[in-house]
Amino acid sequence: MTSKPKVLVTRDLPGDAISRLRERYSVDLPTPDEEISHGRLVEHLVDKQGLLCLLTDRIDTEVLANAPLLKVISVCAVGYNNVDVKEATRRGILVTNTPGVLRETTADLAWALLLAAARRIPEGDRTVRSGRFVGWSPSLLLGHEVHGKTLGIVGMGDIGTAVARRAAGFGMRILYHNRNPSPLATEVGAEMVSLEHLLSNADFVSLHVPLSQSTRHLIGKRELDMMKPTAILINVSRGEVIDEAALVEALRKGRIASAGLDVFENEPKLAPGLVGLANVVLAPHIGSASVETREKMTQMAVKNLVDGLEGRRPLHLVNPEAYRG
Ligand code: DGY
Repeated sequence: MTSKPKVLVTRDLPGDAISRLRERYSVDLPTPDEEISHGRLVEHLVDKQGLLCLLTDRIDTEVLANAPLLKVISVCAVGYNNVDVKEATRRGILVTNTPGVLRETTADLAWALLLAAARRIPEGDRTVRSGRFVGWSPSLLLGHEVHGKTLGIVGMGDIGTAVARRAAGFGMRILYHNRNPSPLATEVGAEMVSLEHLLSNADFVSLHVPLSQSTRHLIGKRELDMMKPTAILINVSRGEVIDEAALVEALRKGRIASAGLDVFENEPKLAPGLVGLANVVLAPHIGSASVETREKMTQMAVKNLVDGLEGRRPLHLVNPEAYRG
């Protein structure tokens, strides 16, 4: 009897994903309820052919060098900046992700943050809960209007376009900045401009770029200084895209009005001073966190892993060069 291929899953996942994997593979799930440490990741991957991991697992050269049998890394996220894809490709390891299925859910969250920051919903919630709401007042928690304003999308990909599409219902003008003109932009009537133009003209700036060397600290002091003092910054991409210390300073000094953040530079740690600010809405990286979407992401990640391990080309392969057919 031939033994089943071995797979490491770094965290328990919603639905029946793990039991489906167990039907085909010998599944190792050493830390079902918590983030796996880097050391344990290295240790447990030594004899595995497949890895199903999360965006919080750092798959670096050390991990890859100690995984001689590894064939497939299936990341249960659209962003795969946690994986050293270049090194994986060099070793002939397939890397897959879960695009598309979380687009609309993440766009919904960007809008939730945008509206919450503009209309000061968390401050209102705290006011009511703490008994400080003593009746209607003409100047209580005045926020910023959303309808008719200008929305700036930095990174007009899948999610950026879904965010822009929602702006039509608010009668907004849309500017976007991308490396290349986006074929999707015409669909939403968006105008391509330089980053500088976008930052100085948009009332809302929403970030949707993948994290890379060129997008790390894309928004720092210089860029925040270009924004309108009434502007609101939204980030549901990756925390490192913003220089968080510079953002704290800008929010504290009122150089921009407010921010809505779902992601942080050193998750789960926050930059000093961030939690003390009333003009920022904070969410714990829940962009794709709906029951339906997490189920779809999980199913997709499992399918990518199974396809890769069984020699088929996974649909969501981020390094096609590594596929040998
Ligand atoms: C992703 O898939 O990259 C998201 O950040 C998960 O919520």
